[in-house]
Order: sequence, then C-alpha cells, then structure tokens
Amino acid sequence: MGLVTTKEMFKKSMEQKFAIGAFNVNNMEIIQGITRAAAKQNSPVILQASSGAIKYAGAGYLRRMVEAALEENDIPIALHLDHGADFEICKQCIDNGFTSVMIDGSKYDFEENIALTKRVVDYAHSKGVVVEAELGKLAGIEDDVNVAAEDAMYTDPKQAKEFVQRTGCDSLAIAIGTSHGAYKFKGEAKLRFDILAKIKEELPNTPIVLHGASTVIPELVEICNKYGADIPGAKGVPDEILNQASKLGVSKINVDTDLRLAMTGYIRKSFAENPSNFDPRKYLEPARTAIEDTVEHKIRDVFGSSGKASIC
Ligand code: G3H
Ligand code: 13P
Ligand code: ZN
Repeated sequence: MGLVTTKEMFKKSMEQKFAIGAFNVNNMEIIQGITRAAAKQNSPVILQASSGAIKYAGAGYLRRMVEAALEENDIPIALHLDHGADFEICKQCIDNGFTSVMIDGSKYDFEENIALTKRVVDYAHSKGVVVEAELGKLAGIEDDVNVAAEDAMYTDPKQAKEFVQRTGCDSLAIAIGTSHGAYKFKGEAKLRFDILAKIKEELPNTPIVLHGASTVIPELVEICNKYGADIPGAKGVPDEILNQASKLGVSKINVDTDLRLAMTGYIRKSFAENPSNFDPRKYLEPARTAIEDTVEHKIRDVFGSSGKASIC
C-alpha cells in the first residue's frame, strides 16, 4: 500500500469513536519511532511536517523517508503538511506527493480565511489530496486575555458550519482551549467540550482536529530536567481529557512537544551517562526508542486506534 489520504481513516474514526494520532516528523529517527509504534499497534497514523520541518529536512527527503517506513510497516500512513501558511507551500507539498495539507488561515478574518482555504481546496482536490483548515485561535498562557477575549478565540459552531460548507475543506481544526508548546495551562487543564459538542451537532460528518494536544508527559519533563534541561512548570493536556476528546468526535490529535521531550530527554540522559561516547547512533537509538514508547502509549491507551489499521 502507498501513502493514503486521511479520508478512510477519518470515516472509520467517526463511526467507531476513536482518534488518529498526527505526529510531527523532522528526521529519520522520529519517522522510524512513530511508524514502528503504529505498526506494533496495527494502527493507522498521520505523519505531519511543518514548514520548519520542510526547511530543515526537505520535502523530498521527508516523503522518501516516509515511503521507506511504508516498506517496513504494513499500515495506512498519511503524509500531511502541518500549518501551511499560504497557497504556495500547500501547492509545493501537493506536487511533492503529500496526501493531505493544512491551510492555516486562522490569523485572517473569516472571509479571507474562506477565500484562501477554498483556493487550496480547489487545487488539492483536483490532485486527489485532502485539506484540513482551521477556524478559531489557539491561545497560549502567554497570551494574557480576559474571559470575553478568550471566548472570542474559541471556534464558533455556527461559523464552523458555514466555513466548511463554503470552503469544502475535508477536516476542521478547532480552538477549544488547547495551545501549542509545553506551557498550555496555568491552573487546572480544561477543554471546552461544550463547544466541541455544539460543533459536532452542526457538523456531524466533518472530522474534527485538535492541535496543541501534547500531554507534556511529566516523566519526560522530569528526565529532561534531571539531565540538565531547564523546563520548569510545563503543563499539557492530560491523557484522560484526550481520551474523552477521542470519544466525543475528535478524529485527529496533533502531537509534537511530547516527541521533542522524549528525544531530548533520552539524548541528554545518554550524554550524561556515557560521557566518553561520541557515536551518534548510541544516543539516537535510545531517543528513537523513547519516541516509539511514547507513541505506542498514546495510540493504545489514549487515542484508541489500536487494531484499526484496516481501512476498508
Ligand atoms: O504546531 C507546530 C508544530 O509543533 C511544529 O513546530 O513549526 O517548530 O516545526 P515547528
Ligand atoms: P503540541 O505542541 O501540543 O505538541 O501540538 C502540536 C501541533 O499542534 C502541531 O500542529
Ligand atoms: Zn498545530
């Protein structure tokens, strides 16, 4: 099987109420760690590359490494552009064999976001590629906003329906309280499932995407800090909340920060424990295993996609 789009996997996720992990990839070890975990769990998986990842590794390298992973692992894999900022980067990825792209027009006003998204959808669909769009704004705790301003950032369910109808996008990323990075909440972690429920009411057949959904796994932060990192007070979305989200109709859950923590923590540990080593394989291997373990835990214990690899 070659790379697939997310169409079939999302259909099944909505029917059977589980989520598919979308993991950010930047190099070979990350791709191997993720795909080996997904294969062990017989789960579909989405590998996503940001513009930064493409600048770092190259779209062609990323696609070919993902294709190599497909040869080893007999599971459905989609290759997705994460946070495409404009039409050109989406086109570059579509023309380079990606099976899915995100056009992130969330910084624009409603009409501009619609116009940009529709342009990408028209091109992508003509090439058999699917499109994720975003409506609403993901605030971080550094964005000190009052309650009224915070409410305005969440996705409006009625607007969401109009947005999907007018753009024809295949899936929609929503803002219900998550944010990117390792500092998501000051106090208790909380997502607005009431808004999610209203969005699902308006859009029962549209796959919903949650960005900024790393757990910021405390054990990984601890390993990083134990071996010299300085990441105090980091906090993410607990497993129970993500598990609930996957049962309430979220089809795609985006994870990058947890992989960064896994890789960094285990490289730091290896450096600290083996100061005389200078063979990169000796510290990249434990980092790759940590990524594999992290992804396997999410697929099996949180997202519920184990055993869902057959997508017909
Ligand atoms: O949502 C952002 C992802 O974590 C990708 O981050 O743009 O630094 O590659 P990046
Ligand atoms: P995290 O920073 O929570 O891992 O989110 C990643 C993401 O949303 C990528 O698009
Ligand atoms: Zn994101």
